[in-house]
Amino acid sequence: MSELKQFPENFLWGGAIAANQVEGAFDEDGKGLSISDVVKVVRPEDRKKMKIPFPTTAEVQEALNDTNHKNYPKRYGIDFYHRYKEDIALFKELGFKTLRVSIAWGRIFPNGDDTTPNEAGLKFYDNLFDELNKHGIEPVVTLSHYETPLNLTLAYKGWTNRKLVDFFAKYAETVFERYKDKVKYWITFNEINCILMAPYIGGAFLRDHVAEGELLQAQFQSAHHQFLASAKAVEALHRIIPDGKIGCMVVGMINYPNSPHPDDVMTALNDQRNTFFFTDVMTRGHYPAYMTSFFKENGITIQKEAEDDAILKNNVVDYVALSYYMSSVSARPETEGEKAAGNLLSSLKNPYLEASDWGWQIDPKGLRTLLNMFYDRYEKPLFVVENGLGAFDEVEDDGSIHDDYRIAYLREHIKEMGKAIEDGVDLIGYTAWGPIDLISFSTSEMSKRYGFIYVDQDDYGNGSLKRSKKDSFYWYQKVIETNGEEL
Ligand code: BG6
Repeated sequence: MSELKQFPENFLWGGAIAANQVEGAFDEDGKGLSISDVVKVVRPEDRKKMKIPFPTTAEVQEALNDTNHKNYPKRYGIDFYHRYKEDIALFKELGFKTLRVSIAWGRIFPNGDDTTPNEAGLKFYDNLFDELNKHGIEPVVTLSHYETPLNLTLAYKGWTNRKLVDFFAKYAETVFERYKDKVKYWITFNEINCILMAPYIGGAFLRDHVAEGELLQAQFQSAHHQFLASAKAVEALHRIIPDGKIGCMVVGMINYPNSPHPDDVMTALNDQRNTFFFTDVMTRGHYPAYMTSFFKENGITIQKEAEDDAILKNNVVDYVALSYYMSSVSARPETEGEKAAGNLLSSLKNPYLEASDWGWQIDPKGLRTLLNMFYDRYEKPLFVVENGLGAFDEVEDDGSIHDDYRIAYLREHIKEMGKAIEDGVDLIGYTAWGPIDLISFSTSEMSKRYGFIYVDQDDYGNGSLKRSKKDSFYWYQKVIETNGEEL
């Protein structure tokens, strides 16, 4: 037994998944296509050349004409749409207090701009939330997790267009009304700051929607629209579900300076603002002062309407949710040095850290520091809604999977969360990413596995889809059972 006793009694232990990575059934029961349904898989041999997708209209058209769905694994996922009962039974066995899921916007409004919602889509989530509640598993629901309806990309240029604010607000109101008795915890946009590194996935606009040299302008204008959409959802949530809670969610990145050189320190601070800018706006209700000079230096002008400042000011979030996988090292531009292979944001290699098979630099202590930084800044409840190790797993002849590397990763991160709670941080829960193996966000591979539950499916969409328990399943079960005391 470790000496940990830090986790509060009602701590929300669980896991997190997203519709686009698990559901499959991409065109069933009236669902419209989402931006993720046209993202092509990165085959293992191309992993090294991998780039975050930022397609053109022609490339999307090509994907639409390609009926070989095996090239687009998010179209079939892990068939959660048909197997959710079996999967939830396993989550129950794990002892989950909560499951974070997302609603695929296009199941509710297939084109994003429809006047009436799709009843079959609404019904699916009724059934899903009922099943969770039946097992005493609290749903935490993300409204937008890389699932913007593709029509909003093709017909409106995604979030560059202000019209999406009201489409999103209508979608949010619709699901709040429908599920007000079933869901109390909500999140507006998954990793809203990812628009800076993945403009298509985050902002739903295409490469040819943006004129040469205008990318930053498009990214920040889109972010402004998402802030408004998020604030309108916050307003609606507080009106429709007064006992509900709604949070924002960011990629939780901590940026270390490469050295004590003052220019490295300033660079790290600026990089840190790639995260804090987003949480600052959504928790404080206004743009932070430091953005004024950034916008000026980069020739960015945010187009605002008269009411925007009040919308942001009056509708701040109840809690701050974050994902945390790795940390980053920032250096002044002239610095030479080896880059970390897989960091989403450019980072130097940190000589003190190991990296995952995908080059993500593993840093449990960074999580404690980052939680403290967030809490110092906002004094709002925090929720770690994603964390985990993407790794290759091997199935032994007897079917067992000995994923001690995953246990080690999670153990160290949970320890550091415990210390953060001792530091005084108000942390309300932890949902490990991908408690069941799912399709990777960045590469659409299956072999980058996060789960406690193994899914028999390979990178080419072959397999029985049978679920089985890894060693980490029994380990996490114990962690939850002992409320984090036995790690
Ligand atoms: C987060 C996303 O960025 O990281 C998830 O919110 C994603 O959707 C997770 O799956 C892990 O990334 P990847 O690329 O390993 O699946």
